[in-house]
Amino acid sequence: MSDGDGDGELEARLVEQETFEPSEEFVEQANVSDESIYEEFEENWPNAWTRAADLLDWDTEYSEVLDDSEGPFYEWFADGTLNASYNCVDRHVENGDKNRVAIKWEGEHGDTRTYTYQDLYREVNEFAAGLRDLGVEEDDVVTLYMPMVPELPIAMLACARIGAPHSVVFAGFSADALATRMNSADSRYLVTCDGYYRRGDPLDHLAKANEGLDGVDHGIDATVVVDRLGDDGFGHDLKGNQHDWDDLLADHQGDRVDPVERDAEDMLFLMYTSGTTGEPKGVKHTTGGYLAYTAWTSHSVLDLKPEDTYWCSADIGWITGHSYIVYGPLALGTTTVMYEGTPDYPERDRLWEIVEKYAVDVFYTAPTAIRAFMKWGSRFPEEHDLSSLRLLGTVGEPINPRAWKWYYKHIGDEECPVVDTWWQTETGGMMVTTLPGVGTMKPGSAGPPLPGIDAKVVDTAGEEVDAGRAGYLTVDKPWPGMLRTLYNNDERFIEEYWSEYSDPDADEWVYFPEDGAKIDDDGYITILGRVDDVLNVSGHRLGTMEIESAIVGVEGVAEAAVVGGDHEVKGEAVYAYVILEDGYEGTDEMSDRIVAGVEDAIGPIARPEQVIFTPELPKTRSGKIMRRLLEEIANDEELGDTTTLRNPEIVEEIQRKVQE
Ligand code: PRX
Repeated sequence: MSDGDGDGELEARLVEQETFEPSEEFVEQANVSDESIYEEFEENWPNAWTRAADLLDWDTEYSEVLDDSEGPFYEWFADGTLNASYNCVDRHVENGDKNRVAIKWEGEHGDTRTYTYQDLYREVNEFAAGLRDLGVEEDDVVTLYMPMVPELPIAMLACARIGAPHSVVFAGFSADALATRMNSADSRYLVTCDGYYRRGDPLDHLAKANEGLDGVDHGIDATVVVDRLGDDGFGHDLKGNQHDWDDLLADHQGDRVDPVERDAEDMLFLMYTSGTTGEPKGVKHTTGGYLAYTAWTSHSVLDLKPEDTYWCSADIGWITGHSYIVYGPLALGTTTVMYEGTPDYPERDRLWEIVEKYAVDVFYTAPTAIRAFMKWGSRFPEEHDLSSLRLLGTVGEPINPRAWKWYYKHIGDEECPVVDTWWQTETGGMMVTTLPGVGTMKPGSAGPPLPGIDAKVVDTAGEEVDAGRAGYLTVDKPWPGMLRTLYNNDERFIEEYWSEYSDPDADEWVYFPEDGAKIDDDGYITILGRVDDVLNVSGHRLGTMEIESAIVGVEGVAEAAVVGGDHEVKGEAVYAYVILEDGYEGTDEMSDRIVAGVEDAIGPIARPEQVIFTPELPKTRSGKIMRRLLEEIANDEELGDTTTLRNPEIVEEIQRKVQE
């Protein structure tokens, strides 16, 4: 079969089929296969959530599942105590599974490393001892600016062991982005890496990290640097307070650190994510509720068993990697696969080569990747034996039915259920999806809310909409994995998530995730995308304001407006409309400087697809930029109403430029 957009690769039979059932064989072995689970959660809410908490080992049992006395500052399992590192590592060693593989790591060059639970136990302890030695105390925020190397989950678990929350910053983010996050979290410790490989070439990560450190306002107590590149490294000398990872571990060889008993509500980590303002939000997740929730959804949705080899191809720098590469799978004692590189290096079959090599049972990826696979054509997966696969998943953006079916047929051989999981950084774990051992799948629709999740689709007044009508997704009841607040900013927490549909006077709190959605007669929810000024580029969330403030930071730029345009593989791409100051011209060089400005402020993921210079932006009479119009222009769509514009004549001019 030839390369193509995958259109020719689905028979009419599949194109027309609207629903799919899991095979009997799958259902028989599934962790959750009885639909009574929905009823159980409904009738016994919130106490049914003990099911999730029971997947963990607690130092002190909790006496109450949910404390909702201070909504929306809910507390889960509040007087229980536990340690996340103990739950993800020690208990498997103690239970006789020390020789089971915890992490299978594959470098871009095909170099591999394998960590049994015993290996993980040893390194996590040694690194925890090293962190303590460097002065890290309980509740200090440790920033981890690392690519996909095994030292990243080891550092996360070492932080968790000593009760120091981690804040992982995606390695693809820029030096500025690192500095902003370290400043915001008042973080004085950094673990980073000399570099990593991308499409064969070593990347100098430490130079970027050092530049970021220069932008940190407060002092830095210590930095630890992993040597990933060896002889390919860039030869930076470590500075006075910078320590080599291997040396630190050697100094603490054989050390053991008792896992610190943490309150369930103590912070496990911070994760920064984009919002509607330029300032990223520090989402706070807790030890008990978050870990219970990720373990539960890994068990019920990903159907993970300790004997499985499981692979989530996300980066640990995003929430998906936190919840479903590290915490959920390791809490369950599964083998989790990590891959350093890109799907097309050295060839476009790299992921399928890895699935075959490790006999992966469960595979979880993003629609943007699936669209790329479709584009490349089915001959790449066909070169490999993928018969080990039992279940497939997707996350991060809507998946259209055609891509869903392509995945189902060409990766799953029509035998693996596909779970389309809707959730967010803030929700901690999956919220809306089918349970693969229970429900019918409908391509294009994520599915019903998970048991115990009270998701609805409402209109602007908060009334539930009729089946088939578009509305807004809301969640009426709290859940254990939910964010507890935004770091040091309770006010913004309420404003961002709880102000739209809540009634504080009646103590009724409704979570608003800022997604549009519709629901069908069976209660299946189809996500329609963000309703705020947040873009979803290749499954990654980017605030238009963040990009705009990067652009106006470039010399010569007077004003900028950023919108998302449809993109075949990325889902959405960044379109930047830019007004220059007098004396500057919209040359290619200027455009390059703007792109570089965005890369410096955020990272290459936010790079504009197109920079359009314009003398004016379409504005309403009250002076608001009409973004809807800019989106329509970017998508080459028919333009809606322009009568409320102050400057309608500008529209045609901009249109002409985009088409140039
Ligand atoms: O718009 C939704 C989209 O991704 C947003 C959350 O982004 P982030 O916090 O970066 O987390 C991504 C990974 C969990 C949501 O508000 N989204 C996520 N999953 C889906 C989705 N849109 C449609 N279908 C999904 N399955």
